[in-house]
Amino acid sequence: MALENYSVDEMVEVSIKEFVSGLAMPVDVYLQMAPDKYILIAQKGDQSQLQGLTVVKSNSVKTVFIRRDDFKSFSESAVNIVAAVAGSDKFQMSHKAKFLKAATNAVFTELHQFGPKAATIDMAKSVANSTLQMIAPNTTITNILKSLQQEHILNQSIAVSAFSLMIANKLGWQSSVTLEKLSMGALLAEVGLKEIPPELILKPRSEMDHDEIRIYEEHPYRGLKLLETAGTLPDDVKSVVYEHHENAIGFGYPRKLRDIRMNPLAKVVALSTQFCELIIPGPWQPSPMTPIDAATYIKDIMGQPYNKEAFKALCKLIEEDFKNIQAS
Ligand SMILES: [Fe+2]
Repeated sequence: MALENYSVDEMVEVSIKEFVSGLAMPVDVYLQMAPDKYILIAQKGDQSQLQGLTVVKSNSVKTVFIRRDDFKSFSESAVNIVAAVAGSDKFQMSHKAKFLKAATNAVFTELHQFGPKAATIDMAKSVANSTLQMIAPNTTITNILKSLQQEHILNQSIAVSAFSLMIANKLGWQSSVTLEKLSMGALLAEVGLKEIPPELILKPRSEMDHDEIRIYEEHPYRGLKLLETAGTLPDDVKSVVYEHHENAIGFGYPRKLRDIRMNPLAKVVALSTQFCELIIPGPWQPSPMTPIDAATYIKDIMGQPYNKEAFKALCKLIEEDFKNIQAS
């Protein structure tokens, strides 16, 4: 096997755990042998298991490298796996949990590109993973998650969940039950989009007519109703789903609640939802902003309509943990 030369900027380090056993490699996989020197250990399409390779076992390898150009398809493949597996009876519960975890890991790896401190993102990742473990045995919810795969909604929801947890961390919230409800509410917030025509989901709000806006803005209520069929979920989780597009000044939807009437967890998720719409690339956001630019946009262009403490915590998060991100 020949050594290949790549600069550090051309490669992304990923945990070996992010590769799901038994599935073909989604991208070429490398080991780093020296700075700028890499060796190809598995090719895209290979059925081999990374954990079973001699070179991996004998060196106790924990992380491998993939080309940065392949990273997007790597992330998307993990998310697609979740959707394919979540509703399949061929897989045991433990497998469902594993696949959901792989999707979360992929999105969190992507979030590393924003440069948050390792401790902050590790906390969010740990809570998100335990939330997924709780969700995985519920077939109705995993089926709903499958529907969220469309139009990148699942990626977006995992990112909203991650930023909600990081904001909560800056607010000083420590109860694991609260954090798990926050994470679960954020993850499930968009389930109502399952019932909205896909072409409407992709359409910019500024181009929608009155009826289209009315239909689109029904998705929090539709989500609430869907989850009511999914068994027992905490009331806080359902409130987050219902209120994730409300804001503190009563200009949100569907109920135009003001801050005092909003669920405390929904106040965080509503801000995180708006923030992630600005920074995460997707069909509705071809030109994502940096975190700093997004916070400035929320403050100066939108007039900061969200809960004041939550917004302060977001600014603290960006200031303290994303300091290597410069405004453009
Ligand atoms: Fe939404």
